[in-house]
Amino acid sequence: MIRFDSDYLEGAHPKILKKIVETNYEQTPGYSDDIYTHSAILKIKKLCKKDNIDVHILSGGTQMNLVAISSALKPYQGVICADTGHINVHEAGAIEATGHKVIIIKNENGKITNKSIEELMKDYLNDGAYEHMVIPKMVFISFPTECGTNYTKNELQRIYETCKKYGLYLYIDGARLGYGLMSKDTDVNTLEEISNLCDMFYIGGTKCGALFGEALVIINDELKIDFRHNIKQRGSLLAKGRMLGIQFDVLMDNNLYFNICKQAVDLAMKLKKSLFNKGYKLLYDSYSNQQFVIINNVKLKELEKEFTFFKWKIIDENNTAVRICTSWATTEENVDKLIQKL
Ligand SMILES: Cc1ncc(COP(=O)(O)O)c(C=O)c1O
Repeated sequence: MIRFDSDYLEGAHPKILKKIVETNYEQTPGYSDDIYTHSAILKIKKLCKKDNIDVHILSGGTQMNLVAISSALKPYQGVICADTGHINVHEAGAIEATGHKVIIIKNENGKITNKSIEELMKDYLNDGAYEHMVIPKMVFISFPTECGTNYTKNELQRIYETCKKYGLYLYIDGARLGYGLMSKDTDVNTLEEISNLCDMFYIGGTKCGALFGEALVIINDELKIDFRHNIKQRGSLLAKGRMLGIQFDVLMDNNLYFNICKQAVDLAMKLKKSLFNKGYKLLYDSYSNQQFVIINNVKLKELEKEFTFFKWKIIDENNTAVRICTSWATTEENVDKLIQKL
């Protein structure tokens, strides 16, 4: 069986495994105070072209979102998010369980706009009972979105300006950041560019070549305060944090992270082109590693003898939309096999 249902189905890039084995018997201090984590942080600072950022590496995406959001917000504050956003739909209420409301805005192809944020803030501020309401204090977006789409620099700039106008923090979930930065539908292509356009964001590792791990970059000084205490209180400070540090030290070296993500996006584009040529309809116009394809159920059954996909949405009684993902480890040979059967 060749699996295309997600991008976390393989282990880790061999360079990471090699480094873990090479350093296995070294003794280092715990809780991410080791030379590998320090080195990874330095590399991230260089790539962001910023000295005064804080970086914290945690082990998973849901964990990162709940730690980052709960650390930034006061008990009566909430976070604005697209109705399709990961924290709204796919985290089993993890954010709400920390006591913070997720305030939803209707998505457009997975994205939200500065206008929709502005409308929500005006409605809130003009409500006679606004003091009885949860204060919107943060905007959450992901890059790429749940639909594989990306924000352009101009869209992000406008969102960030609106956030500043209304005193909102902008937080970007980058579980698939590498794939987003390598996509052709955006001119945000580097860590430096994304770090100029938000208050904090994270660099996803789990889906982009690491065994596990996500690196949070905090740009806004207000959000840096006591952050490690919140990581600890939420049970997320790994004693063997060095395992996270090593992985990002390797990924951030010599463009590895970006190269392996580009490879996945290139293969997804090869697949997209062929789907288009064969007359398949796509649910979203995605230029990232996730493609959403509408397939006739009879054909799907036949394909499923050899391949796995993530069932995304029932279109009608005859057709289903599936998500097909490439990853840092996908081979061209397997993509060609799929293309042939399609
Ligand atoms: C955008 C986004 N954020 C967060 C997560 C959660 O990551 P995890 O499954 O590691 O908790 C995912 C996982 O699919 C995701 O796609």
